[in-house]
Amino acid sequence: MNYFENLEDILLTSSPKEKFEKFESFYENFLANKVNYDLSFEPKPQNEPSYKSFMKIVLPRNVKIRKYFDTNEGKGSLLHTIAHIEYSAIDLALDAALRFKNMPSDYYKDWLEVASDEIRHFLMIEKIMEKIGYKYGDFEVHTNLFEAMKKTTHLVDRMAIVPRYLEANGLDQNPKIMKKLESNPDPINSEILKALNIILEEEVDHVYKGDRWFRYACEKENLNVENKYLELLEKYYPGSTQGKKTDMNFEARKKAGFSCEELKRLSNKQECF
Ligand SMILES: [Fe+2]
Ligand SMILES: [Fe+2]
Repeated sequence: MNYFENLEDILLTSSPKEKFEKFESFYENFLANKVNYDLSFEPKPQNEPSYKSFMKIVLPRNVKIRKYFDTNEGKGSLLHTIAHIEYSAIDLALDAALRFKNMPSDYYKDWLEVASDEIRHFLMIEKIMEKIGYKYGDFEVHTNLFEAMKKTTHLVDRMAIVPRYLEANGLDQNPKIMKKLESNPDPINSEILKALNIILEEEVDHVYKGDRWFRYACEKENLNVENKYLELLEKYYPGSTQGKKTDMNFEARKKAGFSCEELKRLSNKQECF
């Protein structure tokens, strides 16, 4: 089984069910060391997200945000937003494992493991969503995560922007959503809470993996990790390092590899907790 060719096929597969089935058999072969790496294989640039054919895509500013989770629609919309993040994250992990060649084998192992986690997260959320009468594709979505992937074709940039910035932002957002759900207690919200708890714990590990490979890539190019990170945030999201973030999840970010000094710098806080 050719590693790169098969992985690209999985990434480009648009049906979620088919994508997951293909991934499962590929991952089994990968873990059993039954893949070969044909380095002459050139992955095609991905111009459109794999979900384009079955999702209603709108501009980020046109995505309706429902702030309350006490109605069926509010819950459905929240679940759909999370499902879309997870589905996009599957492709992001697959692409990380596909696009960058000549990396240590641990690199590929890490990102395939992330892809497998993201599939599990998606299915977990989809199950709750279906219980209350919605399915993936029922609400409008934006393509922010896909755009970040498309723009970052260099490893240093990809690791900084996707796991170490976007996924790390998720670590900050997740507890805020959990708090809201806790203040609206009911059986569905407690199911969502349970899922979010699992997701938060596992996402720390994804950011940690991103941190690990960002540091690796910086070292190879003789770059200062913290300076390069700030430089890249400004490059891809101008102004994002100016208004300091006040809601950072220090505990999760520290576990994911951020140093106290860096967190203080990013959040403008004097203390590191
Ligand atoms: Fe996830
Ligand atoms: Fe993730």
